[in-house]
Amino acid sequence: MKIICCLLLFILLIKCIETKKVHRTYVVERNTTAREKSMYGFRILDSNEKTCLYQIRVSSKDMDTAILVDDIGKNIVANLKGTWIKNSINVTFSINDSHLNKWTDGFIQRNDNWLSIDYATQSNNQQLIARSSTFLKKVKIYDKKKNELIAQFRQRTRWTSSKPVKYILKIYSNQVPDAIYFFLVLIMDHRGLAGDN
Ligand SMILES: *[C@@H]1O[C@H](CO)[C@@H](O)[C@H](O)[C@H]1NC(C)=O
Ligand SMILES: *[C@@H]1O[C@H](CO)[C@@H](O)[C@H](O)[C@H]1NC(C)=O
Ligand SMILES: *[C@@H]1O[C@H](CO)[C@@H](O)[C@H](O)[C@H]1NC(C)=O
Repeated sequence: MKIICCLLLFILLIKCIETKKVHRTYVVERNTTAREKSMYGFRILDSNEKTCLYQIRVSSKDMDTAILVDDIGKNIVANLKGTWIKNSINVTFSINDSHLNKWTDGFIQRNDNWLSIDYATQSNNQQLIARSSTFLKKVKIYDKKKNELIAQFRQRTRWTSSKPVKYILKIYSNQVPDAIYFFLVLIMDHRGLAGDN
């Protein structure tokens, strides 16, 4: 009995440590289920998957480009350009930051480490690190200076490949525009995070 109590307490403690306040949850979904179709975009839905909030449209000619548009007004919220789909990653982005009420520029780089692959972003003097462990299909995004977890995403389990790949994105902080997280999901998915491309 004592052991069981201790165990329960322990589990409770771990749960408490893990729980961070989630500000927003999004579901980021590929806009196709066809695997052979190399060029696909994404839809960004609310946590109930009832409403589509944004879309990401992708194209690849002289360079790779993506635009994030809001689904209601068809306004461009952010854009991404450079190379990430096939070649080494060299990307810049520009985001209409509604908090600062101006366009903010930034870039994304990739660093390969022994046990993880890191994507580093920088914009407006803020540096983030998105770290995907080789073993867990979860990506954690940290504020580099404060070493604080500010968002994470993971692929939702798919029971059949006739359903599109989806990511659950949880955001714990308001310090950077959400568009940065959407672009990280996009790039890491295009680089094979889901394990099917
Ligand atoms: C999915 O996204 C791609 C790239 O943006 C686009 O070419 C395609 O038309 C989209 N498909 C659907 C069904 O929206
Ligand atoms: C990255 O792209 C920019 C142009 O967008 C180019 O000037 C620069 O040389 C590229 N860097 C690398 C390492 O390829
Ligand atoms: C930026 O977004 C705001 C709404 O959040 C919009 O009113 C404004 O027109 C946008 N700016 C540009 C240059 O698109």
